[in-house]
Amino acid sequence: MERATRMLARAKHVVVLTGAGISAESGIRTFRDTMRGLWKDFDPATLATPEAFARDPEVVTRWYDHRRLGCLAAEPNAGHTALVAIERGLIRRGGRFTLLTQNVDRLHHRAGSANVHELHGTIVVWRCTATGNELEPPPSPFREFPPRSAWGGLLRPAVVWFGEMLPIPALDAAARALRTCDCFMSVGTSSAVYPAAGFVDLAAASGSGTIEVNPQETPASGRFDVSIRARAGAALPELAARAFGTGT
Ligand code: OAD
Repeated sequence: MERATRMLARAKHVVVLTGAGISAESGIRTFRDTMRGLWKDFDPATLATPEAFARDPEVVTRWYDHRRLGCLAAEPNAGHTALVAIERGLIRRGGRFTLLTQNVDRLHHRAGSANVHELHGTIVVWRCTATGNELEPPPSPFREFPPRSAWGGLLRPAVVWFGEMLPIPALDAAARALRTCDCFMSVGTSSAVYPAAGFVDLAAASGSGTIEVNPQETPASGRFDVSIRARAGAALPELAARAFGTGT
């Protein structure tokens, strides 16, 4: 914790990568954990693909609507709030902060983080398959499945499915940030899915210090300068308070 605090306290540009672990304390289940109840016989890899949507848009959109409502009902937790404190603390002293997230739940935005890039899109926004137009549906279940857009197509969640490209603007923002950061922190991600799993190496190649926050060891743990084996909701508020002396 002390080494991580020193790194953060001195940093001019902090880049944070988050994964499902930071939202676990808001009650949002990770991808595999959602396969319960009605959905227990489904394999996530067969629902989160363009092929699944083409084959059975009703089942796929019912599942994503169920997850969307779960995300909208959840609240940001102490981990999300601490990242807001770190961002504001850096900006106050003329530094920079970039948040790269693999989460689709929008909890970072709702907590108040300003510079957020969503690598896997968001479940809160849905896209018309005919026009590409996007909209934010109201926080109630769709009335029909698959939902239809007013522009003539079906609606699908604006998330990145297996086999689809990550959004270029988010990838560009990540590449730029990883070239210039001097402190990279990975929070609540299993570091199993590329390209995000390789961000620690890109940051280290730019000379940045690297910190991992995860209660479990991950395949990437050995590549970080510092590993904090704790929950995000415990470690991040402590880091924010030590490095910036703050609440938000
Ligand atoms: P995972 O579900 O793979 O990993 C979650 C990580 O969070 C694990 O390493 C846990 O140990 C850790 N964790 C659990 N509770 C935590 C807590 N309270 N604080 C900190 N860490 C905690 O989720 P991701 O790494 O986000 O992709 O998965 C990345 C991508 O793989 C997902 O976005 C999804 C999936 O396939 C797509 O949907 C394209």
